[in-house]
Amino acid sequence: MSNVPIIILKEGTEETREREARKQNITAMVAIAETIRSTLGPKGMSKMLVDSLGDVTITSDGAEILKNLDIENIAANMMVNVAKSIDEDIGDGTTSAVIFSAALLNNALELIEQDIHPKPIIHGYKLAADKALEIIKEIAEKISRDDNEVFKNAAKTAMNAKDIAPLKDFFSGLALKAVKHIAEEDGNTFAKVSNIKIVKAPGKSLKDTELINGVYTQKGKVNTMMPDLIKDAKIAVIRRKLDVKKTEFDAQIRISSPTDIQKFLNQEDKILQDYLKIFKDLGVKMIVNSSDISEKFGAYLAKEGIAGIKNVSESDYKSILKAVDAKLVDDLTSLSENDLGFAEKVQFEKLGDDEYTLFSGCKNPKSVSILLKGGLDKILSTAEVSLNDVLSVIAKLFDTKTVVAGGGAIYIELAKRTRAYANEISGKEQLAVNAFALAFEEIPKTLIRNAGLEEIELLTELRAAHRTPDDKWIGIDTITNTIGDNFKKGIVEPAELINHIIKSGSELTNLILRVDRIISAKGSMP
Ligand SMILES: Nc1ncnc2c1ncn2[C@@H]1O[C@H](COP(=O)(O)OP(=O)(O)OP(=O)(O)O)[C@@H](O)[C@H]1O
Ligand SMILES: [Mg+2]
Repeated sequence: MSNVPIIILKEGTEETREREARKQNITAMVAIAETIRSTLGPKGMSKMLVDSLGDVTITSDGAEILKNLDIENIAANMMVNVAKSIDEDIGDGTTSAVIFSAALLNNALELIEQDIHPKPIIHGYKLAADKALEIIKEIAEKISRDDNEVFKNAAKTAMNAKDIAPLKDFFSGLALKAVKHIAEEDGNTFAKVSNIKIVKAPGKSLKDTELINGVYTQKGKVNTMMPDLIKDAKIAVIRRKLDVKKTEFDAQIRISSPTDIQKFLNQEDKILQDYLKIFKDLGVKMIVNSSDISEKFGAYLAKEGIAGIKNVSESDYKSILKAVDAKLVDDLTSLSENDLGFAEKVQFEKLGDDEYTLFSGCKNPKSVSILLKGGLDKILSTAEVSLNDVLSVIAKLFDTKTVVAGGGAIYIELAKRTRAYANEISGKEQLAVNAFALAFEEIPKTLIRNAGLEEIELLTELRAAHRTPDDKWIGIDTITNTIGDNFKKGIVEPAELINHIIKSGSELTNLILRVDRIISAKGSMP
């Protein structure tokens, strides 16, 4: 008997081999890119997403669109993961990452169809990716934390392709202020972006959006007699029902005399009074409860001049905890001075029909909220997604401090230099490096196409314009439809965004090219 293991596949298992397997995977991935290709850039189109309940969202945000696609194909899902990972690590660039990855895969497929083995393609792609990262390191512009204009320009570039573009001057200033508030010296600003709490509030227009020093939460006080403003507030953040516990079963209480009734009520009251005493003794002025506060207890608190909000969501109480520097307490009997947080002011406000609580002058000076105002709910939701992109881009730039020019400029320069590098390489790898260079041009090409401009003509013009190193930032501005130095025009992006696009694209192609078989279980989607 030979030592070769015999793998017996279950009946119904399908096996797809080699070339066909790669082709199947790549075709599915390219199809994903096609669904969002037309959204890229300032002249990109939007997509209308309709969920299973019939709710409609209109967006041009790649990550949003892909999140809402119901995809069963495994390879296609890997493409969606490329978008997810750049969304998590950079917060922008999802559409570009997907388009670039698809171009890399497509170009690889063409080489495979010319009978080139995947091994030299994988190797060539690896060489090209490493070279491209080196080129970016060499040519990217270094900035300092005080280059406010560059930060704002990066924010505006990220907004150019979004619905909030008409307000980009306003929002870039506001977003920069917000990020400066939470900025960290240690290069961890990006991780802290979630500390900027975006609160959607009714208002006339997005232009009324405000940056607030502190944390907002959409909750009103539980009893109208509670104070509207509390100064120097000691705050307890708890997760405990402030009510008398109901019995598990519907118990019947037999009461035979009026004194029994009184006894029973007194007992119930005693429990509430004990709770109240805990707060009073510690000098608590404000209670944030993720659980319920009964009407009766609310009235007791109000009488003592203590305010409270109830049923506060997890994300809200977490940001309050951080802002006021409190510890979450479940067991009231263990509540101590150490668990309490502090804010100079706790205010209750009414905005439109909704009630809000604002904690300001917090122990943690880094807590900040953006009160995003606008008329329609849909506009607010789309603006929130875009604003998150913008905050992430600025924060990433704070941590990495290097930018490149957008509008295709960086990609044309990368294509040019990667092609020059290909000439230094021999064999089949050279073809692969050239294929990688060609994939870079897919981004400017798509920007031009989406603007309804002449693709081949302008791409040729851009290539020709990149003659000397000084031409490195020449790109297209599809708002004014002009070719020029996009760095000077303020169309800039974090270099880290392009790095990520290159890395995720080449990792994905590597993975897919290594697959030479698809074995799918009976009934599964390929
Ligand atoms: N004025 C402009 N002219 C040409 N291109 C521009 C201009 N402003 C921005 N861009 C380019 O638009 C591209 C970004 O477009 P878009 O925001 O639609 O996609 P993305 O950032 O890749 O994905 P998403 O924002 O959906 O996560 C970048 O390549 C950027 O350089
Ligand atoms: Mg973008």
